[in-house]
Amino acid sequence: MLMLLLFIVFGQGYVSIGCEPCTRPVLPGQHEREGRWWWEDARAKECGLHKGNLQQDDAAKLGTNGNGVAAANGINGTVDIFETQAIVNLSRPGIENLLKLEKRQEPWLVVLYAPWCRFCQAMEASYVELAEKLSGSGVKVGKFRADGDQKPFAQKELQLGSFPTILFFPKNTSKPIKYPSEKRDVDSLLTFVNALR
Ligand SMILES: *[C@@H]1O[C@H](CO)[C@@H](O)[C@H](O)[C@H]1NC(C)=O
Ligand SMILES: *[C@@H]1O[C@H](CO)[C@@H](O)[C@H](O)[C@H]1NC(C)=O
Ligand SMILES: *[C@@H]1O[C@H](CO)[C@@H](O)[C@H](O)[C@H]1NC(C)=O
Repeated sequence: MLMLLLFIVFGQGYVSIGCEPCTRPVLPGQHEREGRWWWEDARAKECGLHKGNLQQDDAAKLGTNGNGVAAANGINGTVDIFETQAIVNLSRPGIENLLKLEKRQEPWLVVLYAPWCRFCQAMEASYVELAEKLSGSGVKVGKFRADGDQKPFAQKELQLGSFPTILFFPKNTSKPIKYPSEKRDVDSLLTFVNALR
């Protein structure tokens, strides 16, 4: 099902998935950036899920040739973000465990991010400040890198549709609640947390 959707989207020349208004066709030979970032000046708030591995892995399986879109180099690796003691770096088993817990000791706020996504980078300062504010308050703050190999899992289990996706795991229920806004300043995030904790 997902593969079929990817094929359709991919086949029409879209290079980003998961954020419908953010994508538009990229013509063969046109730089990918022109497809991914055309909306940047308008509502510039989310990164589509960069196909990254799609071109190498899934595209081969789907029998496409990558549609003439070259992968941009150096956007997926480099420097990690949200690096502070106040933010827990969740591993895959760590976040899977959160998903399983009906009753957890503490509620959690978790950002699903990709370090190359400029909107993740843009919220780094406020998220770090938020984590420091919440430290010791009974709300845990974490991050989970959800691109690359983790992307299919995150799309299926964690409501990942674009980067960044911010989830609140309430104390009471295993199902996380997705932060519905594109305002990622400390006060807006804190209001969200306080409304749910
Ligand atoms: C980017 O991802 C590709 C494919 O997953 C990998 O081969 C490459 O080494 C990565 N680049 C960096 C800088 O991590
Ligand atoms: C964060 O966790 C991931 C997954 O366990 C791991 O690959 C990565 O190296 C960790 N990053 C840091 C800075 O510890
Ligand atoms: C947990 O669930 C119970 C029963 O549904 C409810 O009464 C209580 O307010 C909830 N607690 C929190 C912290 O949401």
